[in-house]
Amino acid sequence: MEKIRYFDHAATTYVKEDVLKEMLPYFELNYGNPSSIYTIGRESKRAIEVARERVARELGAKPKEIYFTGCGSESDNLAIKGIAYANRKMGNHIITTKIEHNAVLETCEILEQEGFRVTYLGVDEKGKISLEELENAINENTILISIMTANNEIGTIQPINQIGEIAKKHNVSFHTDAVQAIGNIRIDVEKSNIDLLSLSAHKFYGPKGVGALYVRQGINFKKIQNGGHQEKNKRAGTENVAGIVGLRKSYKNGI
Ligand SMILES: Cc1ncc(COP(=O)(O)O)c(C=O)c1O
Repeated sequence: MEKIRYFDHAATTYVKEDVLKEMLPYFELNYGNPSSIYTIGRESKRAIEVARERVARELGAKPKEIYFTGCGSESDNLAIKGIAYANRKMGNHIITTKIEHNAVLETCEILEQEGFRVTYLGVDEKGKISLEELENAINENTILISIMTANNEIGTIQPINQIGEIAKKHNVSFHTDAVQAIGNIRIDVEKSNIDLLSLSAHKFYGPKGVGALYVRQGINFKKIQNGGHQEKNKRAGTENVAGIVGLRKSYKNGI
């Protein structure tokens, strides 16, 4: 089949050759289950931990703060529902924007049906939120601010450093959907006071079906998928080892 290259890399990217090459052995040779204690299982586990270290290092995070998921949408769901369900007793209010990806908007709508309150901030003609409006929206019940770093339709980059400062000042967790940003914009979770961050490999020349969520150590969040105890008991399911290897190989924080 002829190789098709088109410009909409916000929708997805192809898998780079070196990325695919790195992944292939994990389908056929090193196919062990990372939860198995024998050699091929241990090799899979090792590959996952190497990837975790790489993702963490580039984000300015600790390896134990990285959780691999099945996609960016899952990372968003886990971040928002995870915080909401774990912190219900502290408050029921979430702040987001009207221009988030559906993975955030639908998740918030579901939470509203369950009794949470959500403020959807508007944006100006360039797609930016108002920091003043954000700060005014915070109240004693606010448990989460979820604002994307870069928009998938119009490319607007939100002022995440200032959002992080506001969140920290008011002791509210800050989640950013950085699915469109990682690979293009360098992000440091410490510098930007980010508590949770979603990313997805297929936006930066990695495979589809694998993502990651950064969660700052000490932040209380609940798992939303039950079963095995993978990913420090926060995300049940045998890991997509080849995908995680591909995510690691393609991962680039910034251009
Ligand atoms: C901003 C944003 N968030 C989340 C997602 C969902 O990521 P995934 O396709 O990996 O589920 C996308 C995908 O287009 C996106 O652009």
